[in-house]
Amino acid sequence: MHADALVENSGLRALCAIDAVASGATLKVPSEGTDYAVFNLDGRFYVTQDACTHGPGSLSEGYVENGEIECPFHQGRFDITSGQPTAPPCSDALRVWTVHLVDGQVCIDPAEDRRAG
Ligand code: FES
Repeated sequence: MHADALVENSGLRALCAIDAVASGATLKVPSEGTDYAVFNLDGRFYVTQDACTHGPGSLSEGYVENGEIECPFHQGRFDITSGQPTAPPCSDALRVWTVHLVDGQVCIDPAEDRRAG
């Protein structure tokens, strides 16, 4: 279940409850035409685009290890914190968003673009 509302007066969008993503888990959150992947790495939350930049893989269905997400489609990898590719065949960075924890919700500014390169 995910709140799909702007957090009042902040410009932020709530993607899901903090409790909805256990440590080590990943959650796919469709919101306003974009699929987001919400990660919980030992209590720290990160948000990337869910779609692999290499092909049709859904990263929320992938495998998390050592701060990296392995795409389930061709086993390419990305650094979850930066979105940078770390293993082929992935070569283009993921879009990532700064996470704001507000009122028990994982929130982002949808307009932010931290994608490198
Ligand atoms: S679709 Fe993700 S590695 Fe190819």
